[in-house]
Amino acid sequence: MDKFIIKGPVRLKGEVIISGSKNAALPILFASLLTEEPIEIMNIPKLKDIDITIKLLLYLGVKIKKKDSIEIDASNLYKYRTTMDPFAENLIKSIRASIWMISPLLVRFGKIKIPLPGGCLIGKRPINLHIDGLRKLGAKIYVKKNYIIGYIKKKFKGSCIIMEKNSVGATISIILAAIYASNITIIKNPAKEPEIKDLINFLNTLGAKISGAGTNKIIIEGITKLKGGCYKIISDRIETGTFLIAAAISRGKILCKKTDPKNLAIVLEKLKNTGAKIKTGKNWCSLDMKNKRPKAIDIITGPYPYFPTDMQPQFTLLNLIANGISTITETIFENRFLYVNELVRMGANIFLKKNKVCCKGIKLLSNAEVTATDLRAAVSLVLAGCIASGITIVNNINYIDRGYEKIEDKLSSLGAIIQRIKSE
Ligand code: EPZ
Repeated sequence: MDKFIIKGPVRLKGEVIISGSKNAALPILFASLLTEEPIEIMNIPKLKDIDITIKLLLYLGVKIKKKDSIEIDASNLYKYRTTMDPFAENLIKSIRASIWMISPLLVRFGKIKIPLPGGCLIGKRPINLHIDGLRKLGAKIYVKKNYIIGYIKKKFKGSCIIMEKNSVGATISIILAAIYASNITIIKNPAKEPEIKDLINFLNTLGAKISGAGTNKIIIEGITKLKGGCYKIISDRIETGTFLIAAAISRGKILCKKTDPKNLAIVLEKLKNTGAKIKTGKNWCSLDMKNKRPKAIDIITGPYPYFPTDMQPQFTLLNLIANGISTITETIFENRFLYVNELVRMGANIFLKKNKVCCKGIKLLSNAEVTATDLRAAVSLVLAGCIASGITIVNNINYIDRGYEKIEDKLSSLGAIIQRIKSE
């Protein structure tokens, strides 16, 4: 795994162009398996998880042309590839998003056998809600010896599904299965994330009949065939929030361009509470700390529209150097604090109590050699290196390449002194 050598402390300031949303692009790419007509998707970010997804689509027989946009033709899939060879199995095990192969392949071929998906080690990452949802739509599906095995005789049958808890992934699996179902599917208590809305907008562009995105009830009217079409992915709200934090913790100022501030309203609200000056426009948002130290604030993560768990490590870092005492409560994932020990090595005054992390802000972190444990922890350790005094080494930074496009270029353009050391 590569590492970053970072020299701090620096003030991060300037402009950054936000890339397309990883968590919108991934389900949309798997959803492209549902149509036999050509589609073109714009604003897909260049990330490791996207590359792995494209390799999986190619393995299944999808024809893909990569230009600025991505052209996809899923008309001729390899029907026999409902069980995977070791090459495909390794790809499937490396990302969480591969779970979204199940619904389209059951729709197209009526059977599937894939290994359990991968994903960041931030909790157990169960898939019971995916399984329950697809069973309610008529699939025979179960997990055996770390494989997911599924069959469906003909078509999925529409049903009313009440989600026992908010799940982005399971909501997506159910939507993808219900597109061609006989009659109507209703999902009560679905996830409301902007990435789900983007998937629904994409599918409706291709002729799907889905309503209620972002509400407590999604209604999917089964259709017989999706068309082709063109679609532009929304911007990445978590990348936007990450760069706003980068400026806030270094008492700098930043303008994030090509992003939609409506999708991270609560993050902007919380940043205002730290004393940041926030301005927003139709497709941009800016933060100016006016060289002031942020105020510490309490955060509780929750399903959208509450505070995003994917911004939890970044905000913990802000509280570590803020003025005051604060608590961050993680309610979504049960193991998303692995990075805390690494920050303690940098002098953080922080301790864990069950699903809460309590911080007493200090003025300056000190440099150290630290190791990333997952995507959002990795980027938070890199930002910590930017504001710590001295040379910080962050190991295992390939995690970052999963979710941040050209991270060192974007940070360098803001004034970071950062160098990637490639592993042999
Ligand atoms: C998606 O993960 C995102 N990943 C995550 O982003 C994000 O943190 C998460 O949604 C929550 O917003 C992608 O979109 C690729 P969930 P997902 O199903 O779908 C439990 C990042 O950093 N659960 O909403 O896996 C689960 O354990 C990544 O970009 C079940 O119990 O999340 C968790 O406690 C990290 N059974 C909660 O629900 C299930 O079958 C929310 O999980 C599924 C989930």
